[in-house]
Amino acid sequence: MSTQDDVIRLIAEVLEQSPDEISPGDHFIEDLGASSFDIVTLVMRIEQHYALGETPDDALQKIATVGDVVGLVHSVRQVGGEASEASSSQVVDIAIASDHAGIELKAGLVAWFRRRGFTYVDLGPAQGASVDYPEFASLVATRVVSGDAERGVLICGTGIGMSIAANKVRGVRAALVSEPVSAELARQHNDANVLCLGARVIGDMMAERCVERFMTTRFEAGDDGRHRRRVQRIQALES
Ligand code: RB5
Repeated sequence: MSTQDDVIRLIAEVLEQSPDEISPGDHFIEDLGASSFDIVTLVMRIEQHYALGETPDDALQKIATVGDVVGLVHSVRQVGGEASEASSSQVVDIAIASDHAGIELKAGLVAWFRRRGFTYVDLGPAQGASVDYPEFASLVATRVVSGDAERGVLICGTGIGMSIAANKVRGVRAALVSEPVSAELARQHNDANVLCLGARVIGDMMAERCVERFMTTRFEAGDDGRHRRRVQRIQALES
């Protein structure tokens, strides 16, 4: 079980709700109806379960969503919090892959992940020989839906093939973007979990700006829950 699934299971226990109805973007108070007392109880349960020690007050005050608790567990458990390529058992921030057309942009992004502090797993390819992008889309998609990576990044020449392929995998919401506003809205409105980029369309700096926005923007259910309802309707199309 991934850390994310495990945390959701604990939250479900404390709030006496079904884990199936809890998503990483859910706000404890607005979406899950939790009280401040519930949140404190939950943090104590998490500390005990993962032997984390006492959570500092400033970290506690920042907890608003389920994803924040997952992030808290990751940040405490990652030795020194150092950005690096992870071992295969570690949940990472980003699973990344490309085809041959995207390999240079991928290398640039991986170097930036290290500087920026994102943990990642590079699922290939390692060299520039011609490959078929669906194979690499599937590798990243699988890591994201299993919870082994929080988000995915896929790069091909245009990003189009990768996005079509990734969106065939149940549970993936892949967004093809070429500027940061779309990257942000893909998170806020669509709860996208995979970002697709076109190496023949954008350069290194624009790609970094897109990933930055994608990784730091939360899903917003909407004041009347409309974005959540729409994402649920997308999920209904998968069954
Ligand atoms: C490879 O030439 C190219 O077709 C691929 O990278 C991608 O752009 C497909 O959508």
